[in-house]
Amino acid sequence: MADGDFPVLIEEVSIQKRVEQLAEEISRDYQGSDLHVLGVLRGAYQFTRDLSTKMGLPHTVDYISVASYGQETTSSGTLQLRMDMSKPIEGKHVLLVDDIVDTGITLNWLLDYLKSRRPQSIRTCCFLDKPSRRQVEVPTDYVGFPIEDVFVIGYGLDYQEKYRDLPFISRVSPEEVLI
Ligand code: IMP
Ligand code: MG
Repeated sequence: MADGDFPVLIEEVSIQKRVEQLAEEISRDYQGSDLHVLGVLRGAYQFTRDLSTKMGLPHTVDYISVASYGQETTSSGTLQLRMDMSKPIEGKHVLLVDDIVDTGITLNWLLDYLKSRRPQSIRTCCFLDKPSRRQVEVPTDYVGFPIEDVFVIGYGLDYQEKYRDLPFISRVSPEEVLI
């Protein structure tokens, strides 16, 4: 893909407006409880940061990293913990924040893993959702935008590790996707 040649699917202002709405909703729902935000690296780094800064209630933030896609654009189904969280989540109200839920395999794996660490509650917040691609049923408690089955980039999402820095959501067309 030529640099600078990025069709805009979701504009930066729309992203920021939606993140603000989600942050307000989450703040309302967790009023009075100790919220622990757990972002999934690397895809959700921008979303987690923006969500966290827009939330009007005290909360803690941590990150976890799993290896899923590698260089490909379809899930391999095998997951590996790349970096564990830095603090235990036992007894905490955890909000798991991810960039996108596609087949659901990653979120499902993470939920299983985190539940074994006995949090008091756990909910998910995904910036994007591709419902038509789901292979595993997973709870999506907060969703930024549902999208069609296209491979998207930007706002933390990558294609072969590039384009995470784009402030808007763009797409990679099928003929450009090498797998
Ligand atoms: P799942 O396990 O199939 O749900 O895939 C989840 C992970 O795959 C996400 O956290 C992303 O890292 C990656 N992914 C899925 N779809 C896309 C996409 O359209 N663009 C970039 N990354 C994606
Ligand atoms: Mg990811």
